[in-house]
Amino acid sequence: MIRLMLEWDGEALPGAEEMLQRIARACVEAEGVTLPVYAQVRVTDDETIRRINREYRQTDRATDVLSFPSTHAKPQNTLGHCPEKLLRERDETGLCFLGDIILSLERAREQAAEYGHSLQREMGYLTAHALFHLMGYDHMREADKERMRAMEEKALNRAGVNRITDEELIALAKEAMQFSYSPYSHFKVGAALLSKDGRVFKGCNIENGSYGAANCAERTALFKAVSEGVTEFTVIAIAAEKSMPWPCGICRQALNEFAPDLRVIVACGDERDEATLPELLPHGFGPKQGTLEFLGKE
Ligand code: THU
Repeated sequence: MIRLMLEWDGEALPGAEEMLQRIARACVEAEGVTLPVYAQVRVTDDETIRRINREYRQTDRATDVLSFPSTHAKPQNTLGHCPEKLLRERDETGLCFLGDIILSLERAREQAAEYGHSLQREMGYLTAHALFHLMGYDHMREADKERMRAMEEKALNRAGVNRITDEELIALAKEAMQFSYSPYSHFKVGAALLSKDGRVFKGCNIENGSYGAANCAERTALFKAVSEGVTEFTVIAIAAEKSMPWPCGICRQALNEFAPDLRVIVACGDERDEATLPELLPHGFGPKQGTLEFLGKE
């Protein structure tokens, strides 16, 4: 059992309290903490989090979330494995104090826009992240970071806070479609490509007076992502106004280079369909096949 004592410096986000309590519950359950615990959560702005960061951590900058653990558990021995540390933090409330969390709503809002998901989801993620810090997790060393991420994922799934839904991704593809530059075909297309780390890259088709220079929406999204260092993807949504925009052969090939298992969702108005890339590109030519190594000509 966990209780978050939430304190909002500004106006409380509607529906957030219930969601954050649910996520907190999933975090302690995922960790296997059975003692009743609580954590103090203050939701504030960039300026305040910056001041707290400066005062307590000698770092003069705003950040998304800060956590101040009371038990100082370690990544090798997190709270689920050392309940005795927690027991020492039992106070007059009858609950054991996990520590303090400070969240910047401003920063969360910016990050939600950047990742293309809701503010609630970003707040949920940041809360889970901070709670695992309070339980001893860290991300300084690569191995610790992987364990922490896996726990966050487990807890968020348990709380039903999944990554972006198909409907949300389709909505983003439709949003991207509005920017289609298609004065020659008048066939507007938008795409939203979801990366493994949860970011969304949007793209539209961009035509040219020299027709062959046109670029499809899918490749616009893909190239935006790859050019920012993101190369792993799970799903793409593609939207058009006039007919179902199954990707063209060139886009299937381009996507196959980075995401051979990609799910492909197409949408037109209320109509939807989906397939996997291997279904759309059977016997596809993959990145390895183009290498001399593969051809045995090292
Ligand atoms: N197009 C896309 O952007 N994606 C597809 O999946 C199919 C076609 C664009 C290319 C061109 O600008 C217009 O649609 C008509 O072919």
